[in-house]
Parts: sequence; structure tokens; C-alpha cells
Amino acid sequence: MEPFTLSISRLFAAITLLSLGLVNAHSIITYPGYRGNNLHTNGTVQQSNGLGVAWENGSYIYPYGMQWLYPCGGMPTSTNRTKWPINGGAIALQPGWFQGHSTAFMYINLGLGTVPQNMSLPMLPVFEITGPSNNPYPGTICLPQVPLPADVTVKAGDNATIQIVEAAKHGAALYDCVDITFAEDDEVAEVTKDNCFNSSTIGFKYVFASSSLTTTSAAPVHGPSRVATILISLAMILGAWIL
Ligand SMILES: *[C@@H]1O[C@H](CO)[C@@H](O)[C@H](O)[C@H]1NC(C)=O
Ligand SMILES: *[C@@H]1O[C@H](CO)[C@@H](O)[C@H](O)[C@H]1NC(C)=O
Ligand SMILES: *[C@@H]1O[C@H](CO)[C@@H](O)[C@H](O)[C@H]1NC(C)=O
Ligand SMILES: *[C@@H]1O[C@H](CO)[C@@H](O)[C@H](O)[C@H]1NC(C)=O
Ligand SMILES: *[C@@H]1O[C@H](CO)[C@@H](O)[C@H](O)[C@H]1NC(C)=O
Ligand SMILES: *[C@@H]1O[C@H](CO)[C@@H](O)[C@H](O)[C@H]1NC(C)=O
Repeated sequence: MEPFTLSISRLFAAITLLSLGLVNAHSIITYPGYRGNNLHTNGTVQQSNGLGVAWENGSYIYPYGMQWLYPCGGMPTSTNRTKWPINGGAIALQPGWFQGHSTAFMYINLGLGTVPQNMSLPMLPVFEITGPSNNPYPGTICLPQVPLPADVTVKAGDNATIQIVEAAKHGAALYDCVDITFAEDDEVAEVTKDNCFNSSTIGFKYVFASSSLTTTSAAPVHGPSRVATILISLAMILGAWIL
């Protein structure tokens, strides 16, 4: 949960990688998109007196990072909605942005309406991922066919929000959301192996035997390369600068 530590060497690496154009996708939900960049930490725990968000000198501060705030990591409902299939569709995300996710429980929920009252409709049973280390790491997971929650029916044009919750080893949870409008399949951005893929360094585990996820062979577990670590740092630095 500690904010990622910057160092001068990482900053230089960041600038180098930026000039190589390697970081055009510093997001958490890589498909179908997200509300906006919330990889952002500011203020101090002393200033907020230990609160996750506090009002300080005329603006909010997020001393632990915006992403830890329910329901959508400090981001309000957006108006740039993504079209997503009325019968369910793909979701891809990068789970390794913060420390503490060598294992993590993942929840994918739906909230109905333009400004949902809650995000209390699970789309999948909780599942566990295993990452290459407890430090930040790169890589994505892709679930090509996430269904609608049981007993939910929608029509084209209805609005909703998809919420991803990632509970770290120690139980603290990161939140990220994407606002969608349901649409027919042919109106939805195509899912490809470039925008939706499983990295070999991230594995999946069942939490409940009834899970509807299909298994893949166990992923090899290695430590992250220095470049990988730097890439993550870079994205976090950019995240902090952009907001
Ligand atoms: C919505 O706009 C924000 C702010 O410009 C941007 O960061 C985000 O990627 C956009 N989301 C989608 C789904 O287009
Ligand atoms: C708020 O203002 C005080 C007094 O000027 C300053 O010490 C403090 O760092 C400011 N807080 C933030 C988050 O900028
Ligand atoms: C902290 O970050 C938030 C979100 O980007 C921003 O709205 C706010 O102005 C920042 N606060 C300070 C004191 O820089
Ligand atoms: C869906 O949300 C958009 C704003 O993002 C709004 O303009 C539109 O009216 C909403 N549609 C419905 C059916 O509520
Ligand atoms: C969540 O919101 C829905 C409306 O989208 C409502 O029907 C339901 O009762 C709410 N559930 C809880 C637990 O508040
Ligand atoms: C990624 O792995 C999960 C869990 O094994 C699987 O359900 C999903 O289909 C895989 N994604 C792709 C694109 O193969």
C-alpha cells in the first residue's frame, strides 16, 4: 500500500522509454477502457490525519493513492462511455500496478444505470491471480467472454458501469471502473490478441470449485526483469504527472 518510491535512475529510464513510445497504454482496465487515469497519490498521511481522502488547502488529497477508494478509485462517473455487448463481452486489465499483488483476489461487478446506486452485481465468481512477484509487475489478463450477472437483462442503449476490484494479499482493495453503454455486437470495438491477452507471467487460480473460469496450464513464475519494473514505475510516474 505504500506509494511507489521514485528514484532518479527510474526517472531517466522513464524518459528513455517514453521517447521509445512504449507506454501508450498506462491504464488498469485495458479493454474496454476506464474512467480515467487514477494512478495518482498526493498529500501526506499526516495532512489527512490517516484518511484515504481529505480536503486540504482547497482541493482533495489522496495520500494512499486514489485507487484505494470505493467504488471507482476516486473517479466520478464519466461521459465518454464505451460500447459493450448486450450479451456480455471481453474485459482485459493490468493487475500489477502496486506492490502487494503476488496473489490477489479479483472481482468483476456491474452497476446498472447512468450513475449506479451500487456495484453489487457480480459478473463472475471471485477468482485469484498469481503474479510474478510482490513488487509492481507488467502484464495483462484477458477474459474474453464475461457474462451479464444472473437475472440481469439489458437492451442496446442502456448505461451501466463495470467495476474491477483487486484485493491485495493483505486485503486492501484497488478499484477501477469503466462506464459503458450496451450495444449490439457489431457496434463494439473488436477484441484482438493485441488488446486482450493473458501474459504468461500471471496465473489464475480457482477460489471456489464452482468457478466458471476455464483452467489454463500453470504459468511459470519468474522474478520481474529490471526493465519490467522500470516500465511499471514509468507508468506510475506518468500517472502522477498527468493528473
Ligand atoms: C475517458 O476520458 C478520460 C479523460 O480524458 C480518459 O483518460 C479515458 O481513457 C477515457 N475513457 C474512455 C473509455 O474513452
Ligand atoms: C497546505 O498549506 C500548508 C500551509 O501553506 C502547507 O504547509 C501544506 O503543505 C499544504 N498542503 C498541501 C497538500 O499542499
Ligand atoms: C491531488 O490530486 C487530485 C486528483 O488529481 C487533485 O484534484 C488535487 O488538486 C491534488 N491536490 C493537491 C494539493 O495537489
Ligand atoms: C447514458 O449516459 C449518457 C451520458 O454518458 C447520457 O447522455 C444518456 O442519456 C444515458 N442514456 C440513458 C438511456 O440513460
Ligand atoms: C443496487 O442497485 C440496484 C439498482 O441498480 C437496486 O435495485 C438494488 O436494490 C441495490 N442493491 C443494494 C444492495 O443496495
Ligand atoms: C485467460 O485465462 C483465463 C483463465 O484461465 C481464461 O478464462 C481466458 O479465456 C484466457 N484468455 C484468453 C484470451 O485466452
